[in-house]
Amino acid sequence: MFINIGYIVLPVLCSVLAVLSAMSSWLKTLKHSALILSKFSLGKMATCKTSRERIKEVADLTEYHETAACLADLVRQDGAGSWPPRANHTHSTWPAALRPYKEIYHEMAPLLAAVNISLDDDVNRQRVTHFRSRFQQLLSERVNLGEVTQLLEAADAGRWDVFPRDVYNAFYSCIAWCRHAYRWGTIPAVKVAQLEKTVSLPPELTTPWTSLQSHFGLSSDAGNMMANLVLNFAAPPSGEYVYRINTGLPEEVTASEESFARVAHDMEALALPVYCDVVGAIVSFARGDLPACLARVRAVAAQLRPVLGSYYEKVHDGKIARSVWLSRVQGFYAWGAGREDPVSGKWEVFDGLSGNQVLLFQVLDAFLGMEPYLTREVLERNVPRLQREFCAAVGRHAFRKLLGDEGVEGRIREEMAEIVKRLRLFRSAHRTRAKFYLTVPAPERLPMTAGKSLLKADMEQSMQFLDQFMLSRLQQTV
Ligand code: HEM
Repeated sequence: MFINIGYIVLPVLCSVLAVLSAMSSWLKTLKHSALILSKFSLGKMATCKTSRERIKEVADLTEYHETAACLADLVRQDGAGSWPPRANHTHSTWPAALRPYKEIYHEMAPLLAAVNISLDDDVNRQRVTHFRSRFQQLLSERVNLGEVTQLLEAADAGRWDVFPRDVYNAFYSCIAWCRHAYRWGTIPAVKVAQLEKTVSLPPELTTPWTSLQSHFGLSSDAGNMMANLVLNFAAPPSGEYVYRINTGLPEEVTASEESFARVAHDMEALALPVYCDVVGAIVSFARGDLPACLARVRAVAAQLRPVLGSYYEKVHDGKIARSVWLSRVQGFYAWGAGREDPVSGKWEVFDGLSGNQVLLFQVLDAFLGMEPYLTREVLERNVPRLQREFCAAVGRHAFRKLLGDEGVEGRIREEMAEIVKRLRLFRSAHRTRAKFYLTVPAPERLPMTAGKSLLKADMEQSMQFLDQFMLSRLQQTV
């Protein structure tokens, strides 16, 4: 009997012990997963997290994943510790050698915009010549290029105590403005300036530019979205728009210019959580933590609404007047001049700014596993090296193609599809809005976009050419 009971009790006891031990190891796993999940929990991820906390979270992951390391580097170096990148435009805090540039900006800006647009080439040529010679004179009288070079060398040597990183960013924006103003000589951009094959800029604008561009890993003579727009805003709390194209013109012009400039800047400000969640999703996927990955991808999709909202809310006639944008705003951001490449001997023409340089779209495309929109050459000219590296790392770890259709993987897939849907919506809306703004008559100039320089003889034909870029990208967004 006892033996019989033993036969029954012992196996039951063993089973209970086995269940208990399984439960304890399951609890341990759960606790471990909870630990991992807690790092990325959706609750924490929502609005309550500050940018600083998000940046810290990514910085803590740098040794575990290259996407985190790249994003942390981008924020720490180019962003001067923040995102959007911090630019210190407070004149009194700049090293004395740089202050003349800003003072010259204040003197030259009122001479740039023509109140009445002339269609006479001679009048326009005279305006351009007068503007450039005055600019050149002020620069040669007031800038001590030796001292400026010393500061730039200090920055290259990592001496950010001598040349603070946020001042460096603001100075980049200042020089970018000066160069574009010098290149056009008058705004609206006019035919005589558009037809110049090359523009010889004063050394006070070429020496620092070469150094700054090399620091950002760029090779263009033209400015870019970072230099001319994103960095052209003071750090909070003022957030002021600094270097202006049109001064002393009607409110409709100045407000349209500022609203346009704010789109790119505000988009970067709102995009930080997206970048962090893209990294979070990739890291979670690499760890095999699919629920955390799902939460991160869902957060990316959800955040696209406010991020893209910064475009939808500003890029319309009510905020950026169609009647003024092409002539009074867009031309300034073009470049369309070139020079002989010292190594290859080839003639190179540089395009100016385009929304295609905006980091958000490049990160999203990479995350979805799409090829970059821009060629390598164009990227190396216009998109700062650390941004390129971040996108390339995201592309290397894009996992969409690896997802199955069932369970959590299927749900991640659905969230990815939501991101695609929002991007497609943006791309088709952008086609319509681009046409709306580009087809305004501008008789003082030849058809040109900032991003693609001189175009076909008339805007109707040019529009077909431009639309093809946008249509192809829309078709690739699946
Ligand atoms: C309202 C003025 C704008 C016009 C007329 C315009 C026009 C164009 C044109 C013609 C293209 C195709 C050629 C090229 O790649 O340069 C393009 C591409 C692009 N634009 Fe704009 N753009 C405007 C503003 C913006 C803004 C404010 C953004 C975002 C902040 C933006 C984002 C993009 C992107 C991401 C592309 C690359 C194609 C794509 O990813 O779909 N654009 N734009």
